[in-house]
Amino acid sequence: MPGPLIERYRERLSLAPGDPVVSLNEGSTPLVEAPVISERVGASVYLKLEGANPTGSFKDRGMTVAVSRAKGAGAEAIICASTGNTAASAAAYAARAGLRGVVIVPEGKIAIGKLAQALIHGARVIQVLGNFDAALNMARVLVERYPVTLVNSVNPHRIEGQKTAAFEVVDVLGDAPDYVLLPVGNAGNITAYWKGFREYHAAGRATRLPRMVGAQAEGAAPIVNGHPVPHPKTVASAIRIGNPASWEGATTARDESGGVIAAVTDTEILSAQIRLANSEGLFAEPASAAPLALLFRLVREGKIEKDSITVVVLTGSGLKDPDAALNNVEPPIELDGDARTLAKVLKL
Ligand code: F0G
Repeated sequence: MPGPLIERYRERLSLAPGDPVVSLNEGSTPLVEAPVISERVGASVYLKLEGANPTGSFKDRGMTVAVSRAKGAGAEAIICASTGNTAASAAAYAARAGLRGVVIVPEGKIAIGKLAQALIHGARVIQVLGNFDAALNMARVLVERYPVTLVNSVNPHRIEGQKTAAFEVVDVLGDAPDYVLLPVGNAGNITAYWKGFREYHAAGRATRLPRMVGAQAEGAAPIVNGHPVPHPKTVASAIRIGNPASWEGATTARDESGGVIAAVTDTEILSAQIRLANSEGLFAEPASAAPLALLFRLVREGKIEKDSITVVVLTGSGLKDPDAALNNVEPPIELDGDARTLAKVLKL
């Protein structure tokens, strides 16, 4: 059984020798073939199921390292600003480590499952009237003045942990793929993947590097537009961010790898989410469907080479945001009758 991510990759991470291992056995997530999508796009598409992490998103990879380091350094409290998943993960790892957890979220703007997670793990949940960007600014100022450790991805240990997803992709495929597609919000994850691929390449574990392809939502696409977005809007609440902290990391990953960062509409995101669920049996949250929507678009535009090996990172579980899914499907059939009525309804 795969154990703590830190035990598998410790020599490539940033921990101090005496740091404890605060872990929920994160990482080692499945890389699943997507036969229907592959056939449709004419490439070998693999899906990295980051929703299979203990709290249901990729954030656990960075959180195990950041919280272990914080604990090793004697911290008593951790804090983050979040669109939901970082909050859920920080709350869980704080509980595990016996630290105080504080999360700042945009009021009314985070998915219900994520809010439930943060609360049940006992974090102090602060809802602010502004958006994620305002919440992050507040957290950054607070940690300058008070003894609280920031565990947003501006904390380098978060990026260290998250780069292990790139290691796993190479470990499973035997080399780097041609393309890696993932959603871009605060831009830490694309920065981390690119770091991971480069490090494995430099260590001779991969013979090549992938092109990094980032997806933003059209109403929250600062990097695509080239300027911050003061009031970001999208159904994909996880990536509703107008001024990403790792902006430069994202553009470096894009430019060094010969990739692209582009925006997709909410309609494209929701339709990709349903296509994924219907055709491959996988339920990802809207933000995670954004790179899939972008893949469909790039294929239509002839921008993905035929027969290439493509990895799409499904960053978070669909169970986090049941409202987004329920708003977009037919309601259940109500039936007052017997098996014959049922057979009729089902047109058997
Ligand atoms: N996908 C999901 C499900 C996310 O929760 C996030 C970010 C991203 C993609 C984008 O990753 O920020 O590294 O570019 N969620 C953060 C949060 C912002 O607070 O949970 P990124």
